Amino acid sequence: MLNRKPAVGDRQRAARAVVLIGFMGAGKSSVGRALGEELGWTFEDLDERIERRERRKVPEIFRDSGESAFRRAEHTALRELLSELRAGAERVVAVGGGAFAQVHNAALLKAGGVPAVFLDAGVEELWRRCTQQAERQGIERPLLGSLESFRELYEARRPHYLKASFRQETSGKSVEEIAAEVVQALGLDRSRGRRGEKQ
Ligand code: S3P
Repeated sequence: MLNRKPAVGDRQRAARAVVLIGFMGAGKSSVGRALGEELGWTFEDLDERIERRERRKVPEIFRDSGESAFRRAEHTALRELLSELRAGAERVVAVGGGAFAQVHNAALLKAGGVPAVFLDAGVEELWRRCTQQAERQGIERPLLGSLESFRELYEARRPHYLKASFRQETSGKSVEEIAAEVVQALGLDRSRGRRGEKQ
């Protein structure tokens, strides 16, 4: 096994944080919570940090101040988070669908040595998940739009997502399966997670 190609985990062995990226409906928050439990790391949703800092919900920021104001708030929140990670915090972080498509955010994560995991699914599946969440849970997404505009945005962003450290397929898999596959692919340490004591 001497000539084995290094797994992502070999390069990221010391990772103490993971960022989940991907389009709306990719499952970043639900997979992030499961991954946090697997690892015994705190889960954080960057949109919630933005909302706390701004004292407004994301749809309100879009409605009252526009998308560019939201992007500025998102970038500032990401910088703040990265300084906490540098200080040694262990965290699984879900970022909104647009965050990694902003090149300065992707560069910040890269410079901080935080692996980005792209949760992937087909656009029709993502649209189905988002419209169901809107109907059943009242989840409002300012950029949901029509299937046509959703698809255009997805296609424009996908090349950015593909620059992540690792692409994880999500279609037809449970949240727990996805989290377990990410742990394996990145070679993360589960000893402090919820199943750690059984290993
Ligand atoms: C956005 C996605 C949302 C949220 C904001 C902008 C986007 O997060 O950050 O509405 O640009 O795709 P989710 O990806 O969690 O829906």
